[in-house]
Amino acid sequence: MNVLLIGGGGREHALAWKISQSPLLKKFYAIPGSPGIADFAECVADISINDNAAVVAFAKEHAIDLVVVGPEAPLVNGLVDALAKVGIKAFGPTSDAAQIEGSKIFAKRLMKRHAIPTAAFEVFDNADAAKNFIRAHGAPVVVKADGLAAGKGVIVAQTVDEALAAVDEMKTFGAAGNSIVVEDFMDGEEASVLALTDGETIIPLIAAQDHKRALDGDRGLNTGGMGAYAPAPVVDEKISALVTEQILEPTIAALKSEGITYRGCLYAGLMIVEGQPKVVEFNCRFGDPETQAVLPLMESDLLELMADCAGGTLRGKKISWREGSAVCVILASGGYPKAYKKNLPIDGVSKAKALGALVFHAGTKLRGCELLTDGGRVLGCAATAPTLREAVDKVYRAADVIHFDGMHMRRDIAAKAFARA
Ligand code: GLY
Repeated sequence: MNVLLIGGGGREHALAWKISQSPLLKKFYAIPGSPGIADFAECVADISINDNAAVVAFAKEHAIDLVVVGPEAPLVNGLVDALAKVGIKAFGPTSDAAQIEGSKIFAKRLMKRHAIPTAAFEVFDNADAAKNFIRAHGAPVVVKADGLAAGKGVIVAQTVDEALAAVDEMKTFGAAGNSIVVEDFMDGEEASVLALTDGETIIPLIAAQDHKRALDGDRGLNTGGMGAYAPAPVVDEKISALVTEQILEPTIAALKSEGITYRGCLYAGLMIVEGQPKVVEFNCRFGDPETQAVLPLMESDLLELMADCAGGTLRGKKISWREGSAVCVILASGGYPKAYKKNLPIDGVSKAKALGALVFHAGTKLRGCELLTDGGRVLGCAATAPTLREAVDKVYRAADVIHFDGMHMRRDIAAKAFARA
């Protein structure tokens, strides 16, 4: 199979690492790829992932059998639809299905119509109406921009004043913030359940837990995710069954009943409230950094499963998993998620690998042979081990031999799992 991977972050590096192990793989390309992905695929940096015509032309020219789309923007932007028009299969939903992430209002209304558990909410298309509602309703509440806002469009407000300020902040997200969702705050423990689906069959992956805040103890600003581990014990067997029965299956069925076939990865961001899973948000793609913790434990051939999702042949397939746990710790630029420096030399990646870690590139670039920082999240250091404790120890031993000026990591990835035990 000739495969084209779209994207260049840590999630896509993990996807490339896993896809490269498939005996089905023939030629492998990535747009734009990264210095890490370049170990597995030919990277093509001069095509924009949002230029559907250029990506389609590349896929035709290189006889691509399957396009794997990593990030949400090209999915919402209709890349899978454009590929389908010329008969090229893709792993990822079409633009109407990707609305589940592209529009918070679409997702919330879908859940309400089909009684899928989520927080109560109201929708507003002007700030004054949202503020009047918040003053009457009180806090805590969650204020969300309707559209894609690069992971920044969600603000958890503990007080009415914070919520009013959050409404004003929605303006900074441009068109994404023209409409606003205000929803009830859910108090519980978060988890991420990603599932593969061909629109009929749904296979959940092992549950993971992300760490969205910049600092230990879930303090500081929200980030794209500072680390993840899997399997997350908060999703025990009973909750896992509820997630499938009450959330994943009804969501795919709800979309189908409204004329939308969802194919690809459906990411359910959950809050487990008193033993009941409720949807915080849906994403239309793999999670980052959850993917970097989940895939190292997957035994099955991911490429085969992705082709089954794209081709509608997932029925009867199973995913097998290695015993043990995996942890991914993000090494971020100093200052992230606010302003940070780029072009700083990175040392120690080979040493970390020699200690048994996988090192996924999230924001790096090469200057000659020198590896430099090129983003807020720079690297994801991941490790597997028979127990979560051993995986945590191993991953931090490896992360500690990597260095760039200002490097920041959380030290408490997986602490909630230990607290639970
Ligand atoms: N881990 C959060 C996300 O992928 O959106």
